[in-house]
This record gives sequence, C-alpha cells and structure tokens, in this order.
Amino acid sequence: MPSAAPAPAAPVAKPAASPAAFASPAPAPSPAAAGTFGFGRPATQDRVRGIDIEIRGSDGAGLPQGGGTATEGRAVYTAKCAACHAANGEGTAAGPKLVDATPFRAGTVTATVGNYWPYAPTLYDYIRRAMPFNAPGSLSDQEVYQLTAFLLSANGLIGENDRMDAQTLPRVQMPNRASFTSPDPRPDTNR
Ligand code: HEC
Repeated sequence: MPSAAPAPAAPVAKPAASPAAFASPAPAPSPAAAGTFGFGRPATQDRVRGIDIEIRGSDGAGLPQGGGTATEGRAVYTAKCAACHAANGEGTAAGPKLVDATPFRAGTVTATVGNYWPYAPTLYDYIRRAMPFNAPGSLSDQEVYQLTAFLLSANGLIGENDRMDAQTLPRVQMPNRASFTSPDPRPDTNR
C-alpha cells in the first residue's frame, strides 16, 4: 500500500549568527618535521602491534595463547556484561540479545551470536575489540576466552566445560554458517 505523502516540513527559525562563528580559526599547528602537517604520531611497529589484533573468522588465525570455559566465564559475564545484556543474554534496552537457539529467520527471529554469526572466532575478536561497550579493550585474553565460551555454551553450541582456545574455537560449528557465501571474496587488507 502506498504510504501517505510526507507532511511539509515545519519552517525552522535560523539561529542568529553568533560573533564566535566569525572569529578567526585557531592557528594551524606548526609542522614537527618538513613535509608533515604538524599532528599525528609516527606509526611505529609497537603502536601498530597494539591495534593489529584482527582474528580471522574462518580459521581463527591470530587467536592468542590461553583459553577458558563457560563455567569460568559466568562470573565475568555477570560482573561485566549482564548490566546491558541481562543475566542470561536475553538483552535489555541498553544491549542486544546475545542468546537464542531458535534458527534465525529474517524479519521473524532476532539475529544473535548463536543463530546468526557464521564463525566462532569472530566472537572472540568482537568481544576483545568492542566490549564492554563502556570500556572496550579492558578485558584480558583469558577473560575474552571465558566469555566467548560462556556465550557459545548459553547458545547450546558447546558444553559448559569445553575449553575454548586457539585450536578448539575455530572448530565450533555455527548453525547459520551455510547461509554465508564462501569463501569471502573480499581481500584481507591487513596481511
Ligand atoms: C554498557 C552496555 C554494555 C555492556 C556493559 C556490554 N555490552 Fe555488549 N553490546 C552493547 C551494545 C549497545 C551493543 C550493540 C553494539 C552495536 O551494534 O554497535 C553490544 C553488542 C554486543 C555483541 C554483538 C551482538 C550482535 O549480535 O551483534 C556481543 C557479542 C556483546 N555485546 C558481548 C558483550 C560482552 C561479552 C560483554 C561483557 C564483557 C558486553 N557485551 C558488555 C552494550 C553493552
């Protein structure tokens, strides 16, 4: 059914120009070295290493040492994740649902880690890189393994005491794997 024509936009008063808007901009920073713009820092090997933390989903390349189980991960989850994702990953207004064993169906069943994501190692990469939402980068590698195991177990994909590490995590079969094109034709730009 065609939707109704949008109502004409209400006229918006133009704010009076403030004198600050016409003040001269701050002086440009003076270049630290010829041929530079005077800001930024050299990309040393150490600094690059700090952000070069990508883990390849399909085979887990880049996964660090260590490991952990869901049993160990529950306490970490309760302390650092449940406030936004709820006690068992049901989700809250502050964070999406993470657990659902119902097979994913577009428009009907919400996509979650368990029913949608194609690769288990991506879960490690994402948690380490982006969570907790209010303190990304604050988790130890061990905590990330424990949380990864906790979420996989809560989704019924591994057992509570299955240890997830660089060898076992890439072998976890994700139920929606076949719905993704393989291999991903996009080039891996980092390596
Ligand atoms: C302050 C709230 C908050 C906390 C605490 C938090 N999250 Fe999140 N989380 C979010 C939000 C918001 C998103 C959605 C981010 C987006 O889509 O860009 C999210 C997304 C995620 C996703 C991806 C879900 C999907 O299917 O796309 C995972 C996995 C996840 N969080 C795990 C965790 C784990 C594990 C922790 C604990 C270490 C945690 N989160 C703590 C708010 C939070």
